[in-house]
Amino acid sequence: MRKDYLLESYKNNAGLDLSGCKFLGEGHHGKVFLRADGRVVKICTTVKSCKKEYEILKKVHGSKYFPRVYEYDTIYMVRDYVGGQCLREYIKVYGLSKTLALNVIQLLEEFERLNFTKIDIRCKDIFVQKDESVMVIDPKGCYSRNMKYPRHLMKGLKKSMYLEKFLKILTEERPDLYERWIINNSV
Ligand SMILES: Nc1ncnc2c1ncn2[C@@H]1O[C@H](COP(=O)(O)OP(=O)(O)O)[C@@H](O)[C@H]1O
Ligand SMILES: [Mg+2]
Repeated sequence: MRKDYLLESYKNNAGLDLSGCKFLGEGHHGKVFLRADGRVVKICTTVKSCKKEYEILKKVHGSKYFPRVYEYDTIYMVRDYVGGQCLREYIKVYGLSKTLALNVIQLLEEFERLNFTKIDIRCKDIFVQKDESVMVIDPKGCYSRNMKYPRHLMKGLKKSMYLEKFLKILTEERPDLYERWIINNSV
């Protein structure tokens, strides 16, 4: 698709009628709207990024940590809405409880189970629900980037002043993972 046409299509919401939809947010790769039926439409800036993200969501289909995806066409996809608040904001208000830390650890273990090559995620892409369960909203590079440990996650937790608590819980509860992710990757 030609660049100017692509930009036009993005601006024009891929020709979709989004009246009655609520705008949820926009990132570097796309914008997201909530439909009246409770699903969201993500319109992406490039065909490549849309296709890649759709393929990841198809691959992880059935995992409780990811929104289900229903439809894909060129630069948009339809998927489940994820409620809650992103971890970065959530932590500022409620802090990091042991339950939440363990849920995040289980999420990272799920990445390993799904054979991701990137065992990492940014705080802004984890959405925390009322019961402190967690979900991923924006999976990227899960099968293409190489990262054996939660580098960006730990960076974010450090900024929020919760890294120490997270690592304490990880050592106490999952010394095996502490060794694999932290000891084996420190220089
Ligand atoms: N499934 C979803 N449920 C609720 N909000 C979402 C969902 N997907 C995206 N959002 C909101 O839209 C914003 C942009 O979406 P995102 O998928 O992160 O775009 P990008 O790929 O450009 O980073 C997010 O930061 C979030 O606020
Ligand atoms: Mg994003």
